[in-house]
Amino acid sequence: MVSTRTTIGSFQFDNCLMNAAGVYCMTREELAAIDQSAAGSFVTKTGTLKERPGNPEPRYADTALGSINSMGLPNLGYHYYLDYVMELQDRPKSKNHFLSLVGMSPEETHTILKSVEASDYKGLVELNLSCPNVPGKPQIAYDFETTDQILSEVFSYFTKPLGIKLPPYFDIVHFDQAAAIFNKYPLAFVNCVNSIGNGLVVEDETVLIKPKNGFGGIGGDYIKPTALANVHAFYKRLNPSIQIIGTGGVKTGRDAFEHILCGASMVQIGTALHQEGPQIFERITKELEEIMTEKGYESLEDFRGKLNYKA
Ligand code: SIN
Repeated sequence: MVSTRTTIGSFQFDNCLMNAAGVYCMTREELAAIDQSAAGSFVTKTGTLKERPGNPEPRYADTALGSINSMGLPNLGYHYYLDYVMELQDRPKSKNHFLSLVGMSPEETHTILKSVEASDYKGLVELNLSCPNVPGKPQIAYDFETTDQILSEVFSYFTKPLGIKLPPYFDIVHFDQAAAIFNKYPLAFVNCVNSIGNGLVVEDETVLIKPKNGFGGIGGDYIKPTALANVHAFYKRLNPSIQIIGTGGVKTGRDAFEHILCGASMVQIGTALHQEGPQIFERITKELEEIMTEKGYESLEDFRGKLNYKA
């Protein structure tokens, strides 16, 4: 009997597939649609201290090989999402969920996390250190000193299970340096990767989206090799207690299989979910199960991280 069940820390999930933050997660209605689908969980849109309208539209475009977006963290404020996940957690047989959060400054991040710490929320938190789309705000996790300082301060008061959403890294030295910092902290997981920041897609003579003169985060087919490299690099470098969530370029069961083979414990779907809708989870689960059956794997543990290298 093939199963795509998984765990992150002490949290169990009937399916390893879920949405990526930013897609199908802005409102309760969208989150409910993911919750009622074949997905094993959902993550909320990244909630900030106050509600944000985000960047001017058009700010998302599908492309031949994926997508470009410069949403700019539009969201309804972290309390909206905190209230919803707390409401769900009290329902019988509720799935476990991820609450995505970040402040517009380290101070705001601490205000939010202290409020979550003081709340009755018992689920997982994903701290977004990687949004490339807020004008004037760099992707936090590219600044190792600031990242170290934020994590050090967070873990001085935050005791609930917390992971971080990372931007893609492109250099072996950066994998080493980032992993050395993350290994100092009791992180539940790292999520690899957010979009590849600040790409530019041109159609005829014009950019596709309005914010930042067309610069935006790239998702979809373009980013799978980068995502797999980040998943595997951190799988090899992080303490085994820090699990990996794989995100980037997943639109088939084969893509999900490769993320798990590279070390992912859960797999998130962004661009393809945006294009296909929540029924995608049923299709990709079925495709993943078929691959597992063909190869004689019964559970994710049978092949997670067991990527073969050429001799
Ligand atoms: C956005 O809201 O700009 C996308 C979310 C992210 O990249 O973190």
